[in-house]
Amino acid sequence: MRIDVAFTPAGLGASDLTGRTVFVIDTLRATTTICTALANGARGVIPVESIDEAMRLTQTLERKEVLLTGERHSVRVDGFDLGNSPLEMTGPVVQGKTLVMTTTNGTKAVLATTGASSVYLASAVNLATVGEVARAAAATTEGFLVLCAGRSGAFALEDAYTAGRLILESLGGRRHRKGLNDAALVSVDLARRYGTRWLRPLFLSAAGRELREKGFQEDVVEAASESRYAVLPVYADRRISLQGVPAVATSS
Ligand code: MLT
Repeated sequence: MRIDVAFTPAGLGASDLTGRTVFVIDTLRATTTICTALANGARGVIPVESIDEAMRLTQTLERKEVLLTGERHSVRVDGFDLGNSPLEMTGPVVQGKTLVMTTTNGTKAVLATTGASSVYLASAVNLATVGEVARAAAATTEGFLVLCAGRSGAFALEDAYTAGRLILESLGGRRHRKGLNDAALVSVDLARRYGTRWLRPLFLSAAGRELREKGFQEDVVEAASESRYAVLPVYADRRISLQGVPAVATSS
């Protein structure tokens, strides 16, 4: 068994990803927001790198079926339909829609998984569900990689803590540590330090403090709602969806 954590996508090489199961984490807030949108009926999320790309792609899709979504510096991009708050992703807003989404770190991390055999999105809100998949992956020789989005190329406490919680789920109470890389060991230590108190690391983190300062305190509380949704977002063919959900119609 091999369990690796990457605290940011920077420096990831093909050998880290090729043929592996990858769990992407951006607890504050992209993976939390995506889980919430899919749980509330969104058809899918298309992650893109830039604001321009989001706008260009949206022009090729049925506009009424698409929500332009994302943030820069935590706030909704001018001209976008939605920002990056899980609280915006209510059923009446997202039901049946495809979100074209760009965020500062989270969507970039998803896009950095090229070569992986399977890519899942993880956060507190779907921990139990994604934890089952991690447990199955931990039983294989290849194990899995947890890719933290981090923050502008640097370590993010909330993602590392979430990674540790996911690894503990995958181990199912076993104290096995062989096969964990150093970042995975540190993540597990963080998970042990904070236990199940999500709000501690989330509010202590730089991202959590910034979100609080900008008036998004409730998003942090929402992001701490462990296993609220039994959803398993999968990234494949450039789209994040729940398995079995059909693709959006393109305009002719
Ligand atoms: C990101 O992708 O960088 C974050 O989700 C930023 C945010 O919370 O707005």
